[in-house]
Amino acid sequence: MLTVFYLLLILTVGRCSDDLNFDIKTVGVGDDVNLTCTRQKSSGLKATLFWVRLVSGKFPELLGGTFVFDYEGVNKTPHITTKQEPGTFLLQIHETKLSDTGLYYCIKINRLEMTFLNATFLRIKGPEPDITAVIQVPPSDPVRPGDSVTLQCSVLSDSENKTCPGEHSVYWFRAGSDESQPSLIYAHGNSGDECERSPQTHSPQKCVYSFSKKVSSSDAGTYYCAVATCGEILFGNGTKLEIEGNCRTF
Ligand SMILES: *[C@@H]1O[C@H](CO)[C@@H](O)[C@H](O)[C@H]1NC(C)=O
Ligand SMILES: *[C@@H]1O[C@H](CO)[C@@H](O)[C@H](O)[C@H]1NC(C)=O
Ligand SMILES: *[C@@H]1O[C@H](CO)[C@@H](O)[C@H](O)[C@H]1NC(C)=O
Ligand SMILES: *[C@@H]1O[C@H](CO)[C@@H](O)[C@H](O)[C@H]1NC(C)=O
Repeated sequence: MLTVFYLLLILTVGRCSDDLNFDIKTVGVGDDVNLTCTRQKSSGLKATLFWVRLVSGKFPELLGGTFVFDYEGVNKTPHITTKQEPGTFLLQIHETKLSDTGLYYCIKINRLEMTFLNATFLRIKGPEPDITAVIQVPPSDPVRPGDSVTLQCSVLSDSENKTCPGEHSVYWFRAGSDESQPSLIYAHGNSGDECERSPQTHSPQKCVYSFSKKVSSSDAGTYYCAVATCGEILFGNGTKLEIEGNCRTF
């Protein structure tokens, strides 16, 4: 039965691809999605409707069918449910995953004649970093051993399109003049106090992280600020900290 069904599907997709247009629906990962397929009472009471999906790299998957107008059967997995509701054959996806991206078809089969009632390309959008820039400002004055120096890192984010819940974390790394590996020197807590939201809602949010240190001559090097968000890490361009010698004479 299923083999015949797949064969029909492939034949029909091949034949009708020109006039098959589909909706594109984009949702965020973890969202719930409903796709609906209208079942008209007048057209073929005996027709069977199926929800089928084609996901890249997989065979077509039969998600569920409804066999009569008032069919009460429900196909249910913890993730996907299909059921007949008044006038519509409903496909529900609970907490979408990235792997749910694909083409979803509602098809009607009436005496071996197959019709596409609805085709939706469902795109699941993963979290994208909302950070637009990581800006480091070098200290303005020359630095001598024993001075206290403040390094500043500004993180601009597009708060409008924030798809990653939670704040970002900020780290400072130092790359010394020798060949040694960059070392982590400081990690900011997650207080959110550093951030100012500008009055215009559509302008970016700016968070300023500063880090102060009393320097000795061995602290010279390039300091990088790095922001971790959405499973990615973004680096600033680095600030070169030059420390004047101890035995400087005027
Ligand atoms: C999907 O449909 C069900 C039942 O009709 C409803 O309870 C639920 O709120 C709908 N969900 C979405 C995301 O539209
Ligand atoms: C096809 O699916 C889309 C998205 O769920 C819906 O907006 C549209 O009404 C459906 N069309 C039919 C004929 O069911
Ligand atoms: C960082 O460096 C890159 C390339 O070196 C440059 O295109 C970019 O404008 C710099 N960004 C800042 C904020 O200075
Ligand atoms: C933010 O999202 C809106 C609507 O989704 C889009 O039109 C806009 O281009 C996005 N802005 C950026 C900076 O990505």
